[in-house]
Amino acid sequence: MIRFSVSMEKDLAEKFDRYLEKKGTNGRSAGIRLLIREKLIEEGIRNPQTEVYGIISYIYDYTKSDLENRLTELQHKNKGLIIITSHIHLDEHNCLEMVTVKGQSISVQRLAEEIESNKGIKSVKKLMTEVV
Ligand code: NI
Repeated sequence: MIRFSVSMEKDLAEKFDRYLEKKGTNGRSAGIRLLIREKLIEEGIRNPQTEVYGIISYIYDYTKSDLENRLTELQHKNKGLIIITSHIHLDEHNCLEMVTVKGQSISVQRLAEEIESNKGIKSVKKLMTEVV
C-alpha cells in the first residue's frame, strides 16, 4: 500500500462521509479504493477488447414457437464464451436462464443483444466486471 493525502471541499467530504456511513464502508480509505475500482471497471468494460466476466440473465416463455431450440443453438455457437448455463423452470410457461460468460466485452455485449433479439424473450439483464 502507498499513502497519499486527498484535499476536497468540506461539503463534499461531509457528503462522502454520509455516503460511506449509509453503505457501511469502514473508513475513507476503503471508500475511496472502492470508488476508484468501480470507476476503473466502468471504464474498462467500455473498451471492447477488455477481458470481462459477465452474467446474462433472461426470462422466456419456452412454449413460444421454437424459442428454446434457438436459444440452445445460440449457446452452442458461443460455447467458447459461456462457462455455465443455469436454467430454472419458473412456472408452467416461463423459464429463467443465467449464462455466465468470460471473454471480450464486445463478445458479451453481442451475445446479450442476440439473445434479446429473439421474439418471446422477456427482461434481459447483463452484468459485466473485471478484476482490478
Ligand atoms: Ni424451463
